[in-house]
Amino acid sequence: MIQVAITGHGGPSRLQARTVPIPEPVLGQVRVAVRAAGVNFADILVRQGVYPGAPKPPCVVGHEIAGVVDGVGEGVDPVWIGREVLALTDYGGYAEYHVLDAHRALPKPEGLSFEAAAALPLNYVTAWVLLVVMGSLRDDQIVLVQNAGGGVGLAAVDVARHIGARTLGTASSRKHAFLLDRGLERAFDYGEPGWRERVMEVTGGRGVDLVIDPLGPKSWKASLGLLAPTGRLGMFGISDLAAAGLRARLHLAAAMVRAPRYSATRLVTGNRGVFGCNIHQMYAQRGKLNAWLGQILRGVADGWVRPHVDRCFDLANAGQAHEYIEARRNIGKVILRPGMNPR
Ligand SMILES: NC(=O)c1ccc[n+]([C@@H]2O[C@H](COP(=O)([O-])OP(=O)(O)OC[C@H]3O[C@@H](n4cnc5c(N)ncnc54)[C@H](OP(=O)(O)O)[C@@H]3O)[C@@H](O)[C@H]2O)c1
Repeated sequence: MIQVAITGHGGPSRLQARTVPIPEPVLGQVRVAVRAAGVNFADILVRQGVYPGAPKPPCVVGHEIAGVVDGVGEGVDPVWIGREVLALTDYGGYAEYHVLDAHRALPKPEGLSFEAAAALPLNYVTAWVLLVVMGSLRDDQIVLVQNAGGGVGLAAVDVARHIGARTLGTASSRKHAFLLDRGLERAFDYGEPGWRERVMEVTGGRGVDLVIDPLGPKSWKASLGLLAPTGRLGMFGISDLAAAGLRARLHLAAAMVRAPRYSATRLVTGNRGVFGCNIHQMYAQRGKLNAWLGQILRGVADGWVRPHVDRCFDLANAGQAHEYIEARRNIGKVILRPGMNPR
């Protein structure tokens, strides 16, 4: 089978397709013939060598797949074969086949394409944890979604609208019309000076109740200043570092030195909260993950979960998919599909 491995830290050319044996499922596992695999921004940071705790190259990234079960290991009922499933994966998604514990494969909703199904697991679970589980967002509150035009960002807009909260978001200006069409109340271009002042104006000077921020330490510090009393800041990414390209590792060190130190006294006197979220670190917490995914799958059935696939690339061209995202051309999800290009 074809899998795409990161062969060393660096640019998109470090993603190389290689032929390896098809993996065999063992005790308790199923094998999924992958029809679609999600590309996540974290994959770019792993390739650049700045993602904390990532495996060293050569390694295969990819945290979400959708496909068809085509093999079962010992102890798994053969009735699984032929089932259409989606799953969060512990790396390894950039491949034609993936083996995983059967209890991690959830039924793909009927009527959802494999591409849309692969756009669900990581983006929507992340948004759910940030807004519902940790962010405690309510229908009388305002959330600011930083990087609202990305995969997690669009998912967060869906979750916030489901809750009934007011939604503000940041993105490159060319994405604003799309975001407003999706139901975002106000969009701000975070590349333009003065946008934070406009957020304060829109909220009547009071600030927002929740900011979710994947940009990195400099932005987290500024986001804290946008919180109303009892407001919360959810930190969940370091996208800013990708702009540093091959110097990213130096920038990571510098960014961590500059990372805000949250003064307990200032949080107490300001009535503000700060939390972090990393879904991959939750991989062992299967019960929680499956419960959250269950909420998302119910949301598909109820119609408020609307995964948006921007573009599909052939699995073997994963480097082009990374280039596309790094050039900020995506709105929502980028997907890899095995066998799009005839070999
Ligand atoms: N903690 C977790 O569990 C978790 C889970 C999933 C994702 N994340 C994080 O959430 C963030 C978004 O992830 P995603 O997969 O949804 O990706 P994504 O949003 O699709 O990422 C692409 C978009 O990010 C924006 N961006 C901001 N800084 C950028 C930069 N330096 N270079 C290129 N683009 C930049 C661009 O949008 P604009 O043109 O609008 O700027 C770009 O189109 C990432 O930091 C990711 O690591 C964290």
